[in-house]
Amino acid sequence: MAPTALWPRLTLAVVLAAAGLCAQAQSPQPSLPALPPGFAPPPIPAGNPQSPAKVELGRRLFAEGRLAVDGHTSCAVCHQPGRAYTDGRATPRGATGSSLPRNAPTLYNVAYLPRLGWASTASTSLEAQMPTPLLGTHPVEMGLAGREVEVLKILEADSGYKSAFEAAFADDAQPVSIANLIKAVAAFERTLISGRSGFDRYVFDDDRRYMSAAARRGMALFYGPRTGCGECHSGLQFSNGQLAPSGIRSADAGLALETAKVADKGRFRVPTLRNVALTAPYMHDGSLPTLAAVISFYNRGGHPPRKPLALTRGEQQELLAFLESLTEVSPP
Ligand code: HEC
Ligand code: HEC
Repeated sequence: MAPTALWPRLTLAVVLAAAGLCAQAQSPQPSLPALPPGFAPPPIPAGNPQSPAKVELGRRLFAEGRLAVDGHTSCAVCHQPGRAYTDGRATPRGATGSSLPRNAPTLYNVAYLPRLGWASTASTSLEAQMPTPLLGTHPVEMGLAGREVEVLKILEADSGYKSAFEAAFADDAQPVSIANLIKAVAAFERTLISGRSGFDRYVFDDDRRYMSAAARRGMALFYGPRTGCGECHSGLQFSNGQLAPSGIRSADAGLALETAKVADKGRFRVPTLRNVALTAPYMHDGSLPTLAAVISFYNRGGHPPRKPLALTRGEQQELLAFLESLTEVSPP
């Protein structure tokens, strides 16, 4: 089929137009990894510049179970590195055993997100988001609230942590503090950058080793008018940043919880699809167990106003192969 030969270059143009520019692979700050092709430097708040010492401290705190009331439920329990920083559950369990209402999203490329959370416009920085898991009580994620002094004492008494805080926040009179803990974890999260998938290697390097012919046909489907997937899942982060009608029937009112507007009921943030093969189960409530189930959901029509896509079985396989090509490939 002749048109498929055109797709890669057309798609490259679409992707790059959405990304704004084609940045050189370079590191804007010494403690950010080299940026993948097409990635601009992420915004870094003036009050929290990156530094290697801060990132290393944040990496440790991210996996520190003693921050949680059960001595176990660190950030890394719900955001596991081996699962692209998700936890494999439909919805996670917090440190007091109660279920959280929504699925744990990947943390790859969170530095690039304009807003955080499945259905919120409120939290726009990693520093502003973190009190929710650390201190939130509706529901409890880690349950640090009310135990701040106790936890700071534990960190002060641990000579490794004490010197790591002092190295990261050398100019502070009181380096061990909750504010600095938040800054360090946020600096670590900003280093979780993923942009070297089979898709990227094909689009930017014309390397077909991780992108089968089926995946390339799936890519044409994904960006083509028959599915319209690329309209919402656009740009290099595979999200237009909008809160769109989800089509999943759940008790969760989505954006309407925040705005109380009827029109916002069932609206959720368009999630990234990077590393999506590693982040099952899917959707805000984790109700779809596999990518095949997600494709079948869209094929049946997804949201009621949308028409069924009428994709053949083979086309659904190709779409699946494309989604699987969005997984980071470690350098050979
Ligand atoms: C008990 C499980 C759990 C723990 C522990 C947890 N998270 Fe989360 N995290 C979630 C869930 C669930 C969401 C989605 C919440 C929502 O949108 O309603 C989330 C969302 C996020 C987001 C927003 C991501 C996005 O795509 O918008 C960030 C950032 C984040 N968590 C960072 C952290 C950090 C840092 C910690 C540790 C301080 C942490 N989380 C601890 C479950 C958890
Ligand atoms: C109108 C915008 C829109 C279109 C078009 C669209 N999506 Fe989505 N997509 C969303 C939203 C919103 C969600 C989150 C829904 C939820 O959580 O309830 C989502 C979720 C997903 C997820 C689950 C991701 C995760 O981490 O849970 C996958 C996979 C996905 N879409 C793939 C596709 C594919 C493939 C197509 C084309 C057949 C497509 N999408 C078309 C808006 C869209």
